[in-house]
Amino acid sequence: MNSTSIASDLGWAEPLPVPATMRAMLFRRFGPPDVLEQATVDTPRPAPGEVLVQVAAVGIGRLLDLTARAGNHPYAKIEPPHILGADHAGTVAALGEGVDSARVGDRVAVLPLVTCGSCFHCAEGREEVCEGLAVTGTHRPGAYAQYCAVPARNVHTVPDGIPATMAATLALLGAVAANQMTQAGLRPGQWVLVQGGASALGSATAAYARHMGAKIIATSRSADKRAAMARSGADLVLDTHAPDFVQRVREATGGRGVDIAVDNLGDPAVWDATLDVLARGGAVVTSGAFLGGQVKIDLRRIYSASQRVIGVRTANAAAVKELWTQVEHGFRAVVDRTFPISRAAEAHRYMEDDNSLGRVALTLGPGDWDA
Ligand SMILES: NC(=O)c1ccc[n+]([C@@H]2O[C@H](COP(=O)([O-])OP(=O)(O)OC[C@H]3O[C@@H](n4cnc5c(N)ncnc54)[C@H](OP(=O)(O)O)[C@@H]3O)[C@@H](O)[C@H]2O)c1
Ligand SMILES: [Zn+2]
Repeated sequence: MNSTSIASDLGWAEPLPVPATMRAMLFRRFGPPDVLEQATVDTPRPAPGEVLVQVAAVGIGRLLDLTARAGNHPYAKIEPPHILGADHAGTVAALGEGVDSARVGDRVAVLPLVTCGSCFHCAEGREEVCEGLAVTGTHRPGAYAQYCAVPARNVHTVPDGIPATMAATLALLGAVAANQMTQAGLRPGQWVLVQGGASALGSATAAYARHMGAKIIATSRSADKRAAMARSGADLVLDTHAPDFVQRVREATGGRGVDIAVDNLGDPAVWDATLDVLARGGAVVTSGAFLGGQVKIDLRRIYSASQRVIGVRTANAAAVKELWTQVEHGFRAVVDRTFPISRAAEAHRYMEDDNSLGRVALTLGPGDWDA
């Protein structure tokens, strides 16, 4: 088998001459999954400093995709027609002016966060705090398309042997997980609780923390998902709503509680339980709050136990670097399943029905579009 066929086995494709128009899966009005439709649009041209990526796989996010398509995105103003698609992977097909950090044919994972690069926060390496942060597929045309133009600094060459779907899954989620653990100060041997451990981001966080030597407690409302998480290496799986949740965590951790608790769902119904099992000196980390996020905090408890509540908006360049170092050392995120881009509506419905454990992704090979 030559290297070209190995590459295509893993979902990557060789770059083709860039056509003037391309296929895209877009929506012309907000609504249910069926508003997604295949269309022909102009192929984007890479601006100076950008590369054009021939997309191989793109992840589907609960907030960035499902909520945006439904018209309920909490902070972004999206104007249809709109092409979704944030974290993705593919082959560099063309270079914008001045780009010398990438080459046509590179297989890359794309961080979807576009920052200004010059503000105080960008300068100190905390790009996720940048006020000008824009997200590919939200504030810019996304990767539910044959081609997507992105800043050259956002692409990372993927090591050999990683399938395109895994690269797309790692691209953002792995870097957010790395940033969460860095900011929380994870050390090997610590206990990490991941509320919503079956979600795309939660499963990546749990896998990353475990890879870095933590002991993991993962929660889900679903018995099937709990069983699957136990099989994939969680030390303890629990339903946060069970009456013995706090007692079970205390027993597992020798009475101390967890050093780090991650809740990306912002579920008010589990907040008290999260704080009840947080060790002295521990940290709660959140990178999302799709369930609402309004909770009460007992400040006396927080300060007297030297605890922290940390918002980690998303990834940054240092976290991306750390992620890919850990990928070289064997870290992988969790892919639930893939759908061809022609079945994007079905994939959205599948996620809305809460079926997934890990990332659901779309593949964009030549045979993955409707004729
Ligand atoms: N900051 C970032 O860069 C970033 C990136 C990705 C995601 N996120 C955030 O992470 C969160 C999860 O997103 P995702 O794409 O990973 O989600 P996802 O894969 O769709 O998973 C969502 C999880 O939410 C739980 N859930 C759904 N409805 C619920 C309800 N009514 N009550 C309690 N739990 C419910 C489900 O858990 P069970 O069915 O297992 O109980 C499910 O596993 C979102 O808040 C998102 O904004 C942030
Ligand atoms: Zn900035």
